[in-house]
Amino acid sequence: MLKGKKILIGITASIAAYKIPLLVRLLKKQGAEVQVLMTPAAHDFVTPLTLATLSERPVLTEPFDKKTGAWNSHIELGYWADLFLIAPASANTLSGIAAGRGDNLLLAVYLAARCPVYIAPAMDVDMFQHPATQDNIKLLQQRGNRIIEPASGHLASGLCGAGRLEEPERIAEIVQDFFLNSEKLKGKKILITAGPTHEPIDPVRFIGNYSSGKMGFALAESAAEMGAEVVLVSGPVLLEVSHPNIALKKVQTAEQMFEECNKAFPDCHAAILSAAVADFRPDGVADQKIKKENLPDGAAPEIKLIQNPDILHYLGSIKNDAQYLVGFALETDNELENARKKLWRKKCDLIVLNSMRDKGAGFNTDTNKVSLVSDDAVQELELKPKKEVARDLIHFVATALKRKSKANDIPNDQG
Ligand code: PMT
Repeated sequence: MLKGKKILIGITASIAAYKIPLLVRLLKKQGAEVQVLMTPAAHDFVTPLTLATLSERPVLTEPFDKKTGAWNSHIELGYWADLFLIAPASANTLSGIAAGRGDNLLLAVYLAARCPVYIAPAMDVDMFQHPATQDNIKLLQQRGNRIIEPASGHLASGLCGAGRLEEPERIAEIVQDFFLNSEKLKGKKILITAGPTHEPIDPVRFIGNYSSGKMGFALAESAAEMGAEVVLVSGPVLLEVSHPNIALKKVQTAEQMFEECNKAFPDCHAAILSAAVADFRPDGVADQKIKKENLPDGAAPEIKLIQNPDILHYLGSIKNDAQYLVGFALETDNELENARKKLWRKKCDLIVLNSMRDKGAGFNTDTNKVSLVSDDAVQELELKPKKEVARDLIHFVATALKRKSKANDIPNDQG
């Protein structure tokens, strides 16, 4: 199952480190290449000799091997891995990675790693529940790290509660699922829109909205992580993409977004339009800055607005049976009714509804609370980081595409 997959395991100072030799064995048995990193303090809990024997590689702890003078390059290690699993992750290491510290090899590799990271916290219940630890976990989650929640039960301290490292068999399953999912959208091309559009009034002013692009960029990263080729058409935002499978097309206006979407859509298997597109634009852009000095006293300029193209509506009108079209709906009232109307009017397969009435949802937050509205069902998701909402939605789309390709008798190229 894991043949040829390169997995870094980072072990930190927690008594649960005793479970990791078994995890290494399980992953090796499935064909993975495993490189173990340990913090210096982790050596007090499990021996490097055991881990080196089971992983068939020397265990690395220091940036420099004082005996041989060899340099354990954190950059090379970070690039080498397909997956970095930090287990057990102590409260101290969680705070180090949240703060961006690089004062041991494991922390430096984390900073350099380009691959997805799983973090499995394990510590005593009070340390786990401390607001500092919880805040660090939340922050790491928002940055896209996946947390393997600790189980509840008897702890080494004699206390009882949350903080037990998941069992090695369960962690091995999570790793397997990750690699299975990373192939789920292989061969699929997905168009995603993100951010606001800016509709110019004059050379210094525009009509816009509060969209940050976080939702759309998270969707693009998730789809790429699952093997899709992604075209991300984004309005003006401060974000950048990191995954090589994402082609980013930067636009300013709704008309430019419409043009890029039209170019990409015919070759796409799915499109997810999360951008907050301005419905209207000024009818003409002033060549020079509009100055109040040039207007009669107390007067304001009249700006005539005209409609922008509705990209989602247009894609709905040209899509073929094999294509899956997802629209978003940002509502302030009559949420479900409005979302359903959009679903039918714009001929979408799915509408992702978010409401400005829900705290932590919508524009410019790191979290979102959405409902997936289709013809025959409404699935409400809880409030969670946008990166997790994105993963859930991309899984949903992958499953729907599989169903569509079966229904349309298209050979399933996902194996
Ligand atoms: O970017 P963030 O800060 O992370 O915020 C995310 C978000 C709130 C922008 C996102 O979750 C969201 O709700 N996006 C859609 C916002 C919106 O404009 O909704 P709408 O109900 O006006 O539009 C409905 C759908 O039609 C959307 O898919 C929209 O992309 C699309 N549309 C709208 C107008 C238009 N002219 N062309 C379109 O394609």
